[in-house]
Amino acid sequence: MSPTTAAQSLWLAALPDIRYPAPGAERAFDVLVLGGGITGLTAALLLKRSGARVGVVEADRIGTGATGNNTAKVTALQSTMLSRIRRTRGADVAAAYAEHSRAAVEMVAQLAAEHDIACDLRRRAAYTVAAEESELRTVEQEADAARRAGLPVTLTDDVDLPFAVAGAVGLADQVEFHPVKYAYGLAAAIDGDGCRVFEGTRALSVEEDRPICVQTTHGLLTGEQVVVATHFPVWDRGLYFARMEATRAYCVAARVRGEPSRGMSITAGSPSWSFRSAGDLLIVCGQDHPTGARGVDGQRYSALEDFARRHWDVEEITHRWSAQDALPYDHTPMIGTYTPLSSHMFVAAGYSKWGLSGGTMGAMLLAERIAGGRAATEVFSPHRISPRGLPTLARLNAKVAVDLVGDRLAPSGVTSATEIPPGEAGVVRSGTDRVGVYRDEAGGLHGVSMRCTHLGCLVRFNGAERSWDCPCHGSRFAIDGTVLEGPAVDPLPRRDPPAGAADLP
Ligand SMILES: Cc1cc2nc3c(=O)[nH]c(=O)nc-3n(C[C@H](O)[C@H](O)[C@H](O)COP(=O)(O)OP(=O)(O)OC[C@H]3O[C@@H](n4cnc5c(N)ncnc54)[C@H](O)[C@@H]3O)c2cc1C
Ligand code: FES
Repeated sequence: MSPTTAAQSLWLAALPDIRYPAPGAERAFDVLVLGGGITGLTAALLLKRSGARVGVVEADRIGTGATGNNTAKVTALQSTMLSRIRRTRGADVAAAYAEHSRAAVEMVAQLAAEHDIACDLRRRAAYTVAAEESELRTVEQEADAARRAGLPVTLTDDVDLPFAVAGAVGLADQVEFHPVKYAYGLAAAIDGDGCRVFEGTRALSVEEDRPICVQTTHGLLTGEQVVVATHFPVWDRGLYFARMEATRAYCVAARVRGEPSRGMSITAGSPSWSFRSAGDLLIVCGQDHPTGARGVDGQRYSALEDFARRHWDVEEITHRWSAQDALPYDHTPMIGTYTPLSSHMFVAAGYSKWGLSGGTMGAMLLAERIAGGRAATEVFSPHRISPRGLPTLARLNAKVAVDLVGDRLAPSGVTSATEIPPGEAGVVRSGTDRVGVYRDEAGGLHGVSMRCTHLGCLVRFNGAERSWDCPCHGSRFAIDGTVLEGPAVDPLPRRDPPAGAADLP
């Protein structure tokens, strides 16, 4: 696969030939679930099983968000999450997180078995690996935090990787699966008996009356309760954008000669490398960066490919893909009411790249709470204040202020728009506005306003994925301005590419 070939997730390469319609006559539900990723689908199925009439509203197709673009490990041992949560939130919260993560792993296996979902699910050990001596202390700290949180982890240096490691912490009996097959299996189990799955329907606005009214691209829907499972919460009233940082990461799948490594491993250092196999393919993920960082290009994929070729006998790179996830300032997911005043509108988000278990955990807690149970959502309340996370919170918001103001003051205009090569983009001034101009491979120019429709930061070109990404809160837009990821809900306005001067961003 050439570095210029369009990215395509291994999991989305062959989407099931099942389409769900837009809403028709049925518009009133007990619970409306917004978002058809693992969080929304799991919540919807659990609510259906408790007797609710549920409607799932998905803007695109089921499972095509972060759920279809990841490494697909479902594990309670998640890199160094438990030591980080222990440091910022304390031992009790780390123990609660570990307990709910374990329950989520088992829930995935249980739902797949009970609903006969053929999703290539296998039990595997998960490892957090010290690739260098300098990472050993971090691994030992994670082993200690995991043990204290109740996970039966072991220290070992026997992991199935083709390079020497200084040590690792391992947890047996975790799960790998095909996340898109799983998502479609959940959707099939939801749709029917008064419950509905809708695709191609974007939620635009919400009124928290009784029932709650959700305006969508296909008209009004109502729910007695609403679960917002749109990955990044789409409406600002909860101020989620100020408390989470969006970071992207990249993956490649490679056909290798001989057996690919069979464990699910992630290295503890920085940069971090994450591995698993899928049939005869090896998957390597990494190269994280905050969304909207400057100078992102195809080198992200090249670095992963080089790493794979250095350590395995790679025959062919078959797929490459990328995604982002939201990292809360105190490392713990946000699961609970949408705002402090909400009583019937809920959210689950902020999984720090562990949302296959985290989203399942959020769905379990919200489904139990909505069904009237005594779910322990308090520790994950989105409205908590974590004093030990405040320096990170201050850093995040200071960075946003710098991006918001700094990009406007930066000089513009040195080369002509006509000089933008195919496959690249430039910034062109048009009066007081800045126009982002992309030239496609056929030479056509595509112009969009660079003011992010969320809160007005200037977007930057992402050369690895040919998108306009916002450095402030992670919204992403296609070259024609269409929203790829929130919190923005409105597209970038299209602009005629002016003939003026351009900076390569
Ligand atoms: C590179 C990478 C690797 C990862 N690997 C792992 C891993 O191995 N294990 C793990 O546990 N986690 C992993 N994750 C994280 C995991 O993929 C995510 O946390 C998880 O998939 C989030 O699921 P979700 O349902 O909340 O979001 P999504 O899957 O993104 O679903 C949200 C859905 O909402 C829809 N939507 C958005 N706005 C609207 C709207 N206004 N109206 C209607 N629908 C809307 C979207 O189209 C989308 O389908 C990884 C993440 C990355 C970036
Ligand atoms: S995502 Fe908030 S300003 Fe762009």
